Amino acid sequence: PAPGWELAADVCVVGSGIAGLCVALHARAAGLSVAVVTKVRVDDGSTRWAQGGIAAVLDPADTPAAHARDTEVAGVGLCEPAAVSVLVHEGPERLRQLIGWGAAFDRDPAGTLLLTREGGHSADRIVHAGGDATGSEVQRALQDAVRADPGVTLVEHAMVLDLLTDAAGRAAGVTLHVLGEGSADGVGAVRARAVVLATGGMGQVYAATTNPPVSTGDGVALGLRAGAVATDLEFVQFHPTSLYLGPGARGQQPLVSEALRGEGAVLRDRSGERFLVGVHPLAELAPRDVVAKAITRVQLRDGVDHVELDARSVPDLARRFPTIVASCRAAGIDPVTELIPVTPAAHYASGGLVTDLAGRTTVPGLYACGEVACTGVHGANRLASNSLLEGLVFAARIGAELAERLPPPSPLVPQDTAPSGLLDPEGRRAVTETMSTRVGALRSGAGLAEATGRLAALAAGLDTDAAPGVTGWEATDLLTVATALATAAAAREETRGCHWREDHPETEEDWQVHLDVRLGEDGSP
Ligand code: SIN
Repeated sequence: PAPGWELAADVCVVGSGIAGLCVALHARAAGLSVAVVTKVRVDDGSTRWAQGGIAAVLDPADTPAAHARDTEVAGVGLCEPAAVSVLVHEGPERLRQLIGWGAAFDRDPAGTLLLTREGGHSADRIVHAGGDATGSEVQRALQDAVRADPGVTLVEHAMVLDLLTDAAGRAAGVTLHVLGEGSADGVGAVRARAVVLATGGMGQVYAATTNPPVSTGDGVALGLRAGAVATDLEFVQFHPTSLYLGPGARGQQPLVSEALRGEGAVLRDRSGERFLVGVHPLAELAPRDVVAKAITRVQLRDGVDHVELDARSVPDLARRFPTIVASCRAAGIDPVTELIPVTPAAHYASGGLVTDLAGRTTVPGLYACGEVACTGVHGANRLASNSLLEGLVFAARIGAELAERLPPPSPLVPQDTAPSGLLDPEGRRAVTETMSTRVGALRSGAGLAEATGRLAALAAGLDTDAAPGVTGWEATDLLTVATALATAAAAREETRGCHWREDHPETEEDWQVHLDVRLGEDGSP
């Protein structure tokens, strides 16, 4: 689009992974016009990188009750049972719909879907595609379906800035910075009768993450600036096994799927000992937080920065896990004959903008779907392969809601929710360094106090004369979500799920509550 452009649609979807594209398809099925706006290219989000798969009860020996139980055990008392029930009961139907939209999952010669297992699951219930390339197949199928529909306008290279609202305070569109870096001329807008945020996660708030570069928490930052409530932000899941690429590795790290452990791979310390046996009855297939903590403990004990994953006994490794084998070989390791060096990396935001079961945030007309949302299904720690599933299931619910309750367009009221200034690249490096060293997998009160202090100093020093552009906007969004996350982590004086406090090592009954975050008048949480 040309700078200064404006577009109108019934629904504006921000983000183009599984959540955003599924919302778009459901809204189209209801006869609504849709604009999908996305920060870089349509497939630059996290969905494409998902390896393991999608969890759904398909085996006759499995039950929704068992899936719900596994989800709630992983979530350590903070899952919302009604949301979990929706997830596990509606999942299989939504998966079949995804297959109908063209996604091809791995099957046996008789045509039956192949099911695998990951950490925390008591049954084989994870469908996968291309062995370990599930997300890439899902993204391809959804993109093809969306591109084939002339009722969807897809706008790439458009970074969302702020929410537009009407006189009743209802979401009525968004402002965007289009075509990357530049001047204020690059700002455009989408006017809509509802806005759906599907912007994914915030892994880039840390120095090393499995998330792609676009995962900078833009949706949560926008929602907070617009007055929405976020919750559970302190529960950042660290994936136990990212490929260790050496000291000082920064940015997106290759994932080594948990499904590899589901197929028999085991973790070993530097002496070759399996250290998860005896720590949890499921050993290497314990919930993700248990495995990430055990690895972190061994790394601290042995003074090393990785452990080893032994996948040499996994049958037909190169065919079943082609993505992982390729990324290991690119790093000079042959996992068929050698051990894979792995270490935890920031992976998934279990919290996000609070939504109800129809995907509504606390701002009227503003919806959130996928990783940006907190529907209540993940609690203190997401169960493996429940994330693509959450996007699928709640996208359909948002579609149903939009089909029924979309008010006519109404005039906008000028708002000024933009931040007072922008953060520069040096400030961004300070944010990620602070988050990784003080708000990582293992936290302490002293470290968290230092982190909130440093982040507050960065917020006080924003450049009020900076030229607008994606670099500054992203860095500022990262600072907003980092501050909210660190504040919640400092407040929660217990250990629960993926929030691990060395100064409060127990899980406390009194803390079985959600910590809601809002931005105050001065823009701080
Ligand atoms: C994995 O394949 O290990 C990641 C799956 C997930 O994050 O759910």
